[in-house]
Amino acid sequence: MSVLIAPSLLACDFANIESEIRRAENSGADMLHCDIMDGHFVPNISFGPPIIAAIRKITKMHLDVHLMISEPEKYLQSFTDAGADGLTIHLEVCPQPESILDKIGDLGLIRGLSLNPDMPVEKLKGHLDKVDRLLVMSVFPGFGGQKFIPETIERIKEIKKIISNPKMEIQVDGGVGPKNASEIISAGANNLVAGTASFGAKDMSVAIKEMNGL
Ligand code: DX5
Ligand code: ZN
Repeated sequence: MSVLIAPSLLACDFANIESEIRRAENSGADMLHCDIMDGHFVPNISFGPPIIAAIRKITKMHLDVHLMISEPEKYLQSFTDAGADGLTIHLEVCPQPESILDKIGDLGLIRGLSLNPDMPVEKLKGHLDKVDRLLVMSVFPGFGGQKFIPETIERIKEIKKIISNPKMEIQVDGGVGPKNASEIISAGANNLVAGTASFGAKDMSVAIKEMNGL
C-alpha cells in the first residue's frame, strides 16, 4: 500500500493560509491534517468549525480533522457541516468509542481513533472494528514541533499485530519528517502527518518526496 502524506496546518503561516494550502496541493500532499485543540484535553487552543468551513471553500483536498477535545460527540455535526472528510477522536476521552465512531460513519466520514504515547496498546483491543484510520501519537498532543518519541516504533509494530483489516490507515503524528519516515513506514505506518517537516521546509515537494522514500 502506498504511503499517504498529511501536512498539518498547525505549522503553516496562518496569515497566508490560502497560499499555504496551494503549496500543499502543489507539493503532492494527499490530505490536510487539521488539529483541533480545546485548551482542556490538551494545553493549547487552535481553531474550530468556522476555520474548517473557510478552508473547505478554497480546497477540494481531503480534510483530516484531528479532534484533541474533551467531548467530541458534541461537535461531530458541526465539523461535518463545516466540510470535514474524516474525524479522529481520542481513546483517552472515549474509552468505549464504538457509538461515536458509528455516528462519524453515519455522517459519511472516515472514522478515526487516536491514542497518546502513554496509552497501552492493549486498550485498543476490541475497539478496532469500526476504525478506518488509527492515529498513533508520537508526541504528547498539544503543540507542533516536538521531538518524535522513539518508543513509538515498537508501538506501531505491536499495533500492526492486532489489526486484521488490511485497509486500515495507520497514521503517525508528531515529530515526523524525512529523517525518520522510512523507519516509521517499515514499522507498519501508511499515513504520515508532518507539520514542521512540510510547511517548515523550503521546498515542500522535496520534503514530501523524501518522506515517500523517493
Ligand atoms: C500535535 C498535533 C500534530 C502536530 C504535528 O498535537 O496533533 O498534528 O501538528 O506537528 P509536527 O509535525 O511539527 O510535530
Ligand atoms: Zn494532529
